[in-house]
Formats: sequence, structure tokens, C-alpha cells
Amino acid sequence: MTHEECLARAERELAASAAEVVDTFRLHYHFMPPAQWMNDPNGLVYFEGYYHVFYQHHPFGSAWGPMYWGHARSRDLITSEHLPIALAPSEDYDAAGCFSGSAVEAEGVLHLFYTGVREKGGQLVQVQCRATSTDGIHFEKDPSNPLIGEPPSDGSVDFRDPKVWRHGGRWYMAVGSGKDGGGRVLLYRSDNLSSWDYMGVLAESDGTQGSMWECPDVFPLGSKHVLLVSPMGTRGRRVIYFLGEMDYEAGRFTPESWGELDKGPDFYASQTFYGTERRILLAWMQSWEGRIPTQEHRWAGALTLPRELALDPAGRLRVYPAAEAAGLRIELLAADALVLNGETAALPPCDLRSSGVELVLGADGAAVSGGELAIRFKDMGSGEWVTVGIRGQRLYLDTRAAAWGERGCYSSGLAPEQRSQEVRIFLDRSSLEVFGEGEAACITARIYPPSGVLEAELSSQGGPLKVDLAMWKLQARS
Ligand code: FRU
Repeated sequence: MTHEECLARAERELAASAAEVVDTFRLHYHFMPPAQWMNDPNGLVYFEGYYHVFYQHHPFGSAWGPMYWGHARSRDLITSEHLPIALAPSEDYDAAGCFSGSAVEAEGVLHLFYTGVREKGGQLVQVQCRATSTDGIHFEKDPSNPLIGEPPSDGSVDFRDPKVWRHGGRWYMAVGSGKDGGGRVLLYRSDNLSSWDYMGVLAESDGTQGSMWECPDVFPLGSKHVLLVSPMGTRGRRVIYFLGEMDYEAGRFTPESWGELDKGPDFYASQTFYGTERRILLAWMQSWEGRIPTQEHRWAGALTLPRELALDPAGRLRVYPAAEAAGLRIELLAADALVLNGETAALPPCDLRSSGVELVLGADGAAVSGGELAIRFKDMGSGEWVTVGIRGQRLYLDTRAAAWGERGCYSSGLAPEQRSQEVRIFLDRSSLEVFGEGEAACITARIYPPSGVLEAELSSQGGPLKVDLAMWKLQARS
């Protein structure tokens, strides 16, 4: 079959399964596939007035399978339009799948770089390939694929997820790999996007950061460079960020600090957009571990809210919901200035069946230093709950009292010098994202409250606590 025929077959299958998707846990304002499986965001690029989002997609099932590139675009990062599937396995070199990769624009042409995968002797052979488009919708695979046909001796058979970017008039490509039990990123350089020269190992694990680094991303931020990787071989895979210096001549990134980009269980394979002034990031809002209840409902996987990255004056990495997220607000459900002194305050219930909810809590210094502020979301049907709070200068999400997703207690440090803290909580029908003010202070989890109606209750400990509260109804799915 030609590439076009493979795409057409997948589209027919997808349309048939979209009609059978069960609505229960469908999200209102997060990106998700029309039906069936998705994982990593791919090819994030701003091209001719649209944010294009591609993603790892299996149109033939709600579990992972041979990978296609699904495709959507958005003008505002909030509402999006599904487009035809962009890439299908169709050639010898990508017969087992079109794995993750990136996109750049050059002279009006959109270039997708992806990993072609084929099976040989029980192993997945991984090579780097390209497809191009002038209309941003139909893609042709390069006749000279694979552009990089084998890993260098610094790498291994795990050799995937090319991320291409431009610096100082030249093109660079970071490829994820691993060797001798340590994750690493390999660097290539090109003047024409077609022929690539291997430069060397861009960065590698210090021995504690995973055995294989998937989905690398490299970009400047303020006066620093950032390297993101999604490691395999760590307990509970989490995206790692490194802040450091990039030497483009030597092809070497020197890390100065590192941490986890999000502390929750459902955040992986992040990527940032090419072609935007701001550094906007999306990640797969799900994980390789754990049960996914929506698979029985004919779909699986979603993307996080778009997030913006910045360095604060102290040089820490901050992660915020992109400004566009405020455009989701359609009605103010509650606004209050409360003083809590040990008692609890009931908030209006969050009815997630009809729309999403955002809660904004402004807490004064007491919660940040000795006290505690907590908000409990209890499902009306099952009586189980999750708690979001601030305690001991940490932001936390505790899901141990709910069987709706991964059970655990996840936390992130807050900026100690800040006298007040703002916490933003985004609830959708089956997701929860929390943002605080600290180094990469965000926690993302999929939750599946059975009734979809959450009773919300605020409580405090440790002396009178001033809390400014706003609760917003967010956009409903159209
Ligand atoms: C990350 C990942 C990538 C790979 C893709 C396959 O989640 O394992 O390394 O390209 O998913 O779908």
C-alpha cells in the first residue's frame, strides 16, 4: 500500500471508532484524540498562523500499537481542530511505526522529523526520517529516507525522537539514546536539513537519571539553555529538566542544576513549540504505568494544558499555565476573602460532567511557613477524595484516599522567600493540574471520579489564615 492508502485506511477506521466513543470521562478543554490511543505530543510548531500539534497515535485500537502521527491545529492554543492523520507506517524503514519527533519551518516548507521503526531479528531498528509539506496538512516522506540510518557507536539500538532546532544559522538535531545503563542525548548538525553530521554526546545521565533518555528537547531560556528528557529506567518516569550552558561549537551541554518538570504521575514526553517567542510546552497527560479506565471507552491519552516556561530572578525554572488558559473562564462561580482559623469552609460543588473548573487560591505567609491550607475534593458518588494543599513550604496532591487513578502523595517545593502564594487548580472531567509558585511547582494527575460531581471543602491549620478564593467555570466541550 502507498502512504496515501495507509492513511485512508486509518481514517476510515478512526471515523468508525469515533462514533463508538463513550462520553463518561471525555475532557472538556484538554486536547485528546477523536478516538483510540494517543501518547507523546510530536512536531509542535507554529506555522502560518496556527499552532500545529502532532501526536503518537494508534487509530486501530485504544492500546498502544504501530504508531501513526495524528494531527490537529489551533489558533489560540485552547480550541483546536482535528486534521487528517499526517504519517502512517508505509515503508520498509518505518513498517513498525513512525515514532516521536519534531517539526521546523524553513522557507515556507514544514519539515517533520521522526523515527522510523522496523522489526529485525526481534529488535526494533530505529532510524531518523523526514516528511515535508507546503500546505501543513499533506506530508510526503523524503525519498532519501532514512536520513540517519544507524546510531553512532556512542549510542545504542535505542535511538529515537529527533528534536530539530535552529541556532546561529545552522540546524541541530538532538536524538535520545542510552549506553551502558545511562541515558544520553546525541547531537547532529546540518546546513540544509537533509544531510546530518554527528557531533557527539550532548549530555548524559549522572548514573541516577535513567538508562535511556526519550524525547529530548533543547532550547535557550533567559541567559541559560534548558535540556528536557523523558527517562526510562527510573521509578515512576518523570520528565527531567536541566538548566545549564550550551556550547554549540563543541556540541556539549553542561548542566548546572536539574529537577523534575512536573511532580505528578501523569506527565511524560513533553515537547516545546518551535517558532514562538514564548517557550510553550505540552506533555502527554497519562503514563506508561497504571490502568487507563478510558481504554474500555474507546480512547486513551490526552495533552496537558499549554504551559509557559521562564526563569525567575533567582534563576529558577518556573512553569505557568499559558496566558491563554484564562480565556477558558466563562463564569465566576465563587469569589471570597476568607479568614480560616481551624474551621472548614464548603465551596460550591464542582460539576465536572458539564464543564471544567479552575480554582485560584491566594494564601498569605502562614501557610507557606508553619501552617497548612488544604482543599479536599470528594466525589459525591463514591465518597472518596483527593486533597490539594500547601504544607511546610510544599505544594502537594494526595490521591491516596481515591481509587480513581494512581494513588500517591506528590509534592513540590515552593519559593521560600515569597510571603504569599497563589495556587491554581485546573479540574477537567478526568484530570487535575496544580500550579504553585516555586521551581517547576506543578503536579499533574488523571483522576476518574465516578459521579463527576466533586464536593469541595477548604480547611486550614496553624493559626488564622487569609485566603482569597476564586472559582471559575471553564469552557465546556462544544
Ligand atoms: C515516549 C516514547 C518515545 C517513542 C514513542 C513511541 O513515550 O516511548 O520514545 O518514540 O513513545 O510511541
